[in-house]
Amino acid sequence: NSAAAPVTTVPTAVANQPVISKEVTVLFGSQTGNSHGLAKKLAKKLEEQSFQVTLSSMSDFKPNNLKKVQNLLMIVSTHGEGDPPDNAISFYEFLHSKRAPQLEELRYSVLSLGDTSYEFFCQTGKDFDKRLQELGAKSLTERVDCDVDFDEPAAAWVSGVLGALNAASASAVVGGSTTAAGSAPSTESEYSRTNPFQAEVLENLNLNGRGSDRETRHVEISLEGSNLQYEPGDSLGVFPENHPRLVTELIQAMDWNASTPVAVNKNGEERPLQEALTRYYEITTLTKPLLEQVAKLSSNEKLQALVAAGNEAELKSYIAGRDLLDLVQDFSLQGVSASQFVAVLRKLPARLYSIASSSKASPDEVHITVRAVRYEANGRNRYGVCSVHLAERAQSGAALPVYIQSNPNFKLPENPETPIIMIGPGTGVAPFRSFLAEREETGADGKTWLFYGDQHFATDFLYQVEWQRWLKDGVLTKLDVAFSRDTDQKVYVQNRMLEKSRELYQWLQEGAVVYICGDEKKMAHDVNAALLTILEQEGGLNNEEAVQYLANMQQQKRYQRDVY
Ligand code: 2AM
Repeated sequence: NSAAAPVTTVPTAVANQPVISKEVTVLFGSQTGNSHGLAKKLAKKLEEQSFQVTLSSMSDFKPNNLKKVQNLLMIVSTHGEGDPPDNAISFYEFLHSKRAPQLEELRYSVLSLGDTSYEFFCQTGKDFDKRLQELGAKSLTERVDCDVDFDEPAAAWVSGVLGALNAASASAVVGGSTTAAGSAPSTESEYSRTNPFQAEVLENLNLNGRGSDRETRHVEISLEGSNLQYEPGDSLGVFPENHPRLVTELIQAMDWNASTPVAVNKNGEERPLQEALTRYYEITTLTKPLLEQVAKLSSNEKLQALVAAGNEAELKSYIAGRDLLDLVQDFSLQGVSASQFVAVLRKLPARLYSIASSSKASPDEVHITVRAVRYEANGRNRYGVCSVHLAERAQSGAALPVYIQSNPNFKLPENPETPIIMIGPGTGVAPFRSFLAEREETGADGKTWLFYGDQHFATDFLYQVEWQRWLKDGVLTKLDVAFSRDTDQKVYVQNRMLEKSRELYQWLQEGAVVYICGDEKKMAHDVNAALLTILEQEGGLNNEEAVQYLANMQQQKRYQRDVY
């Protein structure tokens, strides 16, 4: 587990080169792994320039040690409603508490990752920046806030901090980079988010029975020849395509020509408009910055009024549940050229899915579990970009650009005997199929307990046959299910947990690791509350002690969440 402890790396000593005493601490707070990935790359770059780097997740870093740090580089994403990611929470709370030390000696810079379609864009990064200032720290370079399309601004921030650090350490050896560290180990795949692998779809099945409200696809994808590796708990990044009907309607609404070449990146590479809108640009999400830029391109007064200062509430409610087609229709934007328009669009980002397979059990394959998102809003049918692409246009034989996003925050315990409790209603069950396949394949004999739920037993029991086989074979020790719409009263996974509170508490006392995967806002929140109730009821703790118990578990990586 690469993120288990802060690792201090001393640069490889090179003959005739003085060892530079410049130290830099790189801290990341990451939910889906993007910040972690950027932090690792940054650490490598710094080492190549002979800096002495401490790379650590915020949760593994003792905040009091900040007093000894001279240079701090922080990469942090924002989650949910402006919240820090799980592995940044304890650090965030400490730094914002009265216990936080004064940091006059510290120089720092913050890179924040976020999404402009959320109200509290990059809030966690902004909070850290403000708080470090309050504690007396000096800014090394200005904070950079990135949208989902973070590669370019992140690269600019990296080169900025490298410049500032090098300038600050004038004694640093010029050109003292060590190339030895530059070459990747031969086992590493050449494929990544910025260079995805064109994978072949091997199988694509609907897991729900006839009559279900749901359509959940089990997609098996070949990784053969890619050298891509993954561990249970990791995610698969999938680059989707926009719905062809939406693309066509948008082009028609604007009187554009589908074959007009337009730019698809900053290097001036061009593609026909139809293809650019299908594969390169996001057309289903409206953001405030997008509307502001479109307002500048058109003379539509209604749109200009909407984006004007003081109209935030109206703008927010307009944006929700609408897409680019609504925008061009509602504000008659005809007259804006296709090239002008695409220049203000965001790149179509990949979607991450928790991997549902074990590479030990299914070599050269990766499986994902995807619920098709379809709903009606503002008088029109709407489709989740990636989920519906996978459901409707990624049948066996299709090509899919993919990459692996590792997730060190969601990992099986190193000790195969450690008991695990897995809570995953709906598609949240995906990583637990991976966990159990892995435990079966490696012959791990720790106890396992799965809580699963969905609407109806008859049609929505995802992977039912597999859980039952694992139960029979002893790979799965206990299974509790909650089908919410089979009875008058709704039952959810947390109800089942509370029914088994004594035994569950017993498992916690035996050192079980608890995993939650699935919906964040409602489910993960309610499951957390159920865990607190169990600790209070069975452990005799008061609320504060129960909260502390879970915080300790989180610190020890015994409480891990993969929530969305
Ligand atoms: P519902 O749709 O009947 O309300 C997977 O989506 C399952 O999670 C469904 O059975 C769904 O129930 C249930 N679910 C909805 N809200 C939940 C919550 N707050 N906690 C736990 N499960 C929830």
